[in-house]
Amino acid sequence: MIKIAIMGYGVVGSGVAEVLSMNHDIISSRAGQEIEIAKILDLRSFDDSPYAELFTKDFNDILNDKSIKIVAETIGGLDPSYEFTKKLLKAGKSVVSSNKELVAQKGDELLSIAKENNVNYLFEASVGGGIPIIRPLHSCLAANKIEWIQGILNGTTNFIMTKMIEEKLSFEQALLLAQKLGYAEKDPTADIGGADANRKICILASLAYGKHVYPHEVHQYGIEDVTLADVAFAQSMGCVIKLIARAKKLENGKISMMVCPAIIPVSSKLASINDVYNAILVKGNAVGEVLFVGAGAGKMPTASAVIADIVDAVKANNTSISQYWAPSCESAVSNYREDVIKFYLRLQADDVEAAKEFILNNYTTPIILSRLDQPENEIAFKTDFMLEDDVKKLTISLTEKGFKQLSKIRILD
Ligand code: HSE
Repeated sequence: MIKIAIMGYGVVGSGVAEVLSMNHDIISSRAGQEIEIAKILDLRSFDDSPYAELFTKDFNDILNDKSIKIVAETIGGLDPSYEFTKKLLKAGKSVVSSNKELVAQKGDELLSIAKENNVNYLFEASVGGGIPIIRPLHSCLAANKIEWIQGILNGTTNFIMTKMIEEKLSFEQALLLAQKLGYAEKDPTADIGGADANRKICILASLAYGKHVYPHEVHQYGIEDVTLADVAFAQSMGCVIKLIARAKKLENGKISMMVCPAIIPVSSKLASINDVYNAILVKGNAVGEVLFVGAGAGKMPTASAVIADIVDAVKANNTSISQYWAPSCESAVSNYREDVIKFYLRLQADDVEAAKEFILNNYTTPIILSRLDQPENEIAFKTDFMLEDDVKKLTISLTEKGFKQLSKIRILD
């Protein structure tokens, strides 16, 4: 029998206890021994819980209990999770985590500490909720050079975009609905602004390319400025708009990173991933494209991933599984302004003909778009491949000419 502890009895932590109890026999047989919850850390009281006598408010009760070998960290955030995790690993306990913020910011350091202490730091639940992606990327695709990873990594924004596309809800209406249904984080800015997806693509890129990619190095945009007019123009191109997170290995060895709303063709594998679902498309040089799809959040799916890590930590039996990446002294990430990409731009112009002339003369083979109910003072077009930097310069000159930029969205086709 092996004893574990859970830190943080919120949605995910309570889900871990629930799934461990619900699937007790099958989990024990897969782990090769019984798994018993010895302690649960939470500052709140849960007197009516079936685990009431296991609760403690003192972290040291877990740290100093030598019989506890594995700890599930489901607190989230950096403080106090970072300090707690370091202490537990140094004390020779494996830690499994659903905490994407901590892994994205401090994964390199925590993985090193785990290795030095011959224990494991595992975080399958930190990306894509219940979707198996960390282990497949690390183990099953180990034979491949990963050319790129592209994904829908945030359920809330995918839900919002689905409602905008399918039910013509405005961004504000769709966000309210997502909050009502409990999909958005407490502070939805991390979802809609792209920070949540950013953390997740950083974890995947670090794992795929062996060097820590930090969220602050990533060019990040959210979906808060996407309008129903943009959705309609995308539809006129046979496309949809999704919040896409992408990591791509360049020939010069650097990694191109991007988190932003992107226009993708309806025929692409990610276009049909709707509602709160997440999907991760991975291109390996031997295997080709592999798609992982599933529930990207939620109590039971995320608990399922945390317990998979607990089972692995049990089976690892005093060895450190080789999942690892190195700290990145010099940034591994390329300068996004050197990326070459197609753009969609929407402008407001009192003189639409003058705007059209400017566009045709200054952009590379632009295609003027049209949509139903298009106001007379609106013009939208898509460019050919252009340097991010050139597009930036041209949008500045559009503004100088008196044309107001309403939208600028990247096109991935
Ligand atoms: N708020 C996140 C999402 C939860 O919407 O995907 C899982 O990280």
